[in-house]
Amino acid sequence: MVDRVRALGRYPQTRLRRNRRDPWSRRLVAETVLTPGDLIWTVFVCAGTGRSEPVGSMPGVVRLSADLLAEQARTAYDLGVPALAVFPQTPAEAKTPDGDEALNPDNLVCQAVRAVKAAVPEIGVICDVALDPYTSHGHDGLLRDGYIVNDETVDVLCRQALVQAEAGCDVIAPSDMMDGRVGAIRRALDGAGYERVRILSYAAKYASVYYGPFRDAIGSTGNLAGGDKRGYQMDPANGEEALREVAMDIKEGADMVMVKPGMPYLDIVYRVKAAFGLPTYVYQVSGEYAMLKAAGERGWLDGDGALLEALRGFKRAGADGVLTYAALDIARRLQG
Ligand code: PBG
Repeated sequence: MVDRVRALGRYPQTRLRRNRRDPWSRRLVAETVLTPGDLIWTVFVCAGTGRSEPVGSMPGVVRLSADLLAEQARTAYDLGVPALAVFPQTPAEAKTPDGDEALNPDNLVCQAVRAVKAAVPEIGVICDVALDPYTSHGHDGLLRDGYIVNDETVDVLCRQALVQAEAGCDVIAPSDMMDGRVGAIRRALDGAGYERVRILSYAAKYASVYYGPFRDAIGSTGNLAGGDKRGYQMDPANGEEALREVAMDIKEGADMVMVKPGMPYLDIVYRVKAAFGLPTYVYQVSGEYAMLKAAGERGWLDGDGALLEALRGFKRAGADGVLTYAALDIARRLQG
């Protein structure tokens, strides 16, 4: 650090504002660049056809039926967005304690994957592996005597991953935080001939209040009934543990890793990228989206500008890309 200070010139010979003076020179000296190619569009799929319904707690976000989602996938791809991640609003009557609907080859996610891949084969499709959209208690795994059991859950997650791979999904993204699931899913995929399907692990996923609007969007808030996921998701107090989580997932075969949420965890993004150098993604989660949009709606700040600034922050911290609900708006803004 001392050397760096010595190497700096002194004012008035050195004026750091010179490079900031014009748009062209600002562009030339920019250290990171955000492009539509860095964005993964997170989308909600609902039952039916021709349906588009607003998510109350996420201004500008809609749940789309599979047919409309397939149309929007074309728009996304044409805007330069390489991939989308699908989340289902499972009808309440299809939810059960063990979340069996996750294994239904005709569930909403599988329908959406087939529709999107048929309409836009070039776009990457990412599917979450976890049981919370399907369980009547809203947890990501199997609940036995008040505890989310690990190994039995992992068996079901492997079967869920196979169902999604069979539907044509390109990337399996386990978001459940069970121990050992990445390795087990890798073996299950390979054993069934899906060795080309990638795994994007939610490697460092924190037990966060910022997931509130998402649970509203997939209709699991009431199911969780005030419960929390601190028995399997990470404690926001921990950083070293995130590196262990990531290391284990890499050893188990993760192709890409994710940190989630984004904004309060930029240090984790930086450390993960620096330590492992793997393709590293950040999830700008529902609560991050909602708070910036809501403030924008009130005229307190420029909501989309704030979202964009956050995305640039993720890239600066070392992320290779970002999962965001604002992918289409941001891609338009970056192009325009
Ligand atoms: C499910 C899952 C969650 C999110 C992504 N996958 C919710 C949770 O863990 O409770 C949250 C995404 C968001 O808030 O945008 N396991």
